[in-house]
Formats: sequence, structure tokens, C-alpha cells
Amino acid sequence: MARVTWGLATSHVPSIGAAMDNHKTGDEYWKPLFDGYGPAREWMAQHKPDVAVIVYNDHANAIDLDMVPSFAVGTAATYDVADEGWGRRPVPPVVGAPELSEHLVRELIDAEFDITTCHRLDVDHGLTVPLSVYCREPGDAWPCAVVPVLVNVIQYPQPTAARCYRLGKALGQAIRSFPQDLNVAVFGTGGMSHQLAGARAGLINERFDRMFLEAIEHDPESLAALSREDYIREAGTEGIELIMWLVMRGAMSDKIARVHDTYHVPASNTAAALALFEDLGER
Ligand code: DHB
Ligand code: FE
Repeated sequence: MARVTWGLATSHVPSIGAAMDNHKTGDEYWKPLFDGYGPAREWMAQHKPDVAVIVYNDHANAIDLDMVPSFAVGTAATYDVADEGWGRRPVPPVVGAPELSEHLVRELIDAEFDITTCHRLDVDHGLTVPLSVYCREPGDAWPCAVVPVLVNVIQYPQPTAARCYRLGKALGQAIRSFPQDLNVAVFGTGGMSHQLAGARAGLINERFDRMFLEAIEHDPESLAALSREDYIREAGTEGIELIMWLVMRGAMSDKIARVHDTYHVPASNTAAALALFEDLGER
């Protein structure tokens, strides 16, 4: 059977990808952020999954605002890297895991989550930057297959945090019921506090972020109990991306151990963080 082996929560800021693509990770601005990733990257390189289920949001690149599914799953054999207006990132195409995807879609629909199925999908920075955070130099191919799981966080009304946490629980069960012997990592992406436009543009809330970084391990229920308005007030209009971390946490068992975390301000307009957890539940 498949198992969830670890969970990675990470910001997905496009300029973090651009810093890697343009070999600027040693610059004064970027070095502290990338130094913070170091121990997590070493650990992940020693615990390579067969598949990464990456919970992310599209930013009106593959899915325009005419039709916005609350939850969607990619089922393709490969996903092209999206051109977000300045050319595609120079990273390999993303190889899918269609059998696992089809299984997850069926199991989630049977669990009463009405999933939209994406048979074709260009993946934007929300997915490719976390992949680069995991694997700095993929060469010609990423080291694992990927199942994209999309959450609408950009158009009101976003799904509630409680719904995302429950989706994660159903996702974890669905992964564990897949008959192939696979190691699966689950990524929750986005955050932490940030707001890109409007009167509060530039908002950072370190107090909220640090509370969230702690509670995602020990008390995810308290985070699931917050309303979308709580997220937007405390973490900013884009900080609500944090609800995707709850999908990752829900997919993991109750027995997890923190491997590493890091918190850094600023990365572009965000408070950037990474938190890596090993799942001890099935040993
Ligand atoms: C930035 C952050 C994001 O989460 C995003 O999707 C786009 C841009 C930023 O801070 O620049
Ligand atoms: Fe984003």
C-alpha cells in the first residue's frame, strides 16, 4: 500500500524560483533564506518520495477567472510549466502519476468532496517553486512524479480552513488506500503572511505566522477553526494561502515529528517559511 512519509509546508513566491533560475541564491538578499532551507533539503534528499502530492493554487495562469473550481486534481501524464508572462521557468516538465491521480479523484468524490478533474494543466509558480525548494538541481527530470491538488485561494469565497483540513484527512486516507507500494510526500504551499495589493499591501504579521508555524504541528484544529476573514485580517489577502498547509497537515497522521523549519522576512513581499515534518504514524 502507499504511505505518506513526510509533509513539507513552504512558501511559493515566484522570485524565490527566479533567484534559483538566475543563480542569485548566494546574494546578500537571498542567502539567509536559502541557508535556512539547507537542513530540510539535506534530509529530503535522503528520503526521496516516489510521488509528491502538491497542494497549491493556480494564480489565474492555467485557470482563468471565468471558471474557478474550489478543489481540483490533475490527472495528466505530464504537466507543462506555465508561461506566466516572461517565459517558462527553465525547469523540467512535471511528470504525473495518472493512476494515483484517478484513484485520489474517485476516493475524494466518494468522500463527498466534489473534485474538478484537470486532464490538462500548465503548472505555475505555486507548484514549480516548491518543487525547486525540494530539489535545487533537478537536471533533466524532477526526482519524483507529481499529483497536483488545486485549492481556490484567490477568489471569494475561498473554501474554509475547516474544509481544507477535512480534505486533507480524506486525501491521506485515499493515499493510504492506493494498492501500490509507494512513498508519498505531501506538500502544502503558499503563505505565510502577505498582501500584494490594496491599502494594506506589504502586510507582514510575524506574531500570527509564528503561532501558525507552531500550531500546524501540535494544534491544527485551532487553525481549522479560524474563518476566512480571520486569515485575511491576520495574514493578508494572499496570506489566506495558508489554508493549503492544513490540507497537507490533514493528510498526515497524528504522529509527526518536526524535522526542520525556517522563517524569513522578507522574500519579495512575503514572510517566507518552510516547515518539514516526518510522518511516524505507520512505522
Ligand atoms: C508573491 C507572493 C505570492 O504568493 C505570489 O503568488 C506571487 C507573488 C510576492 O510576494 O511577490
Ligand atoms: Fe501565491
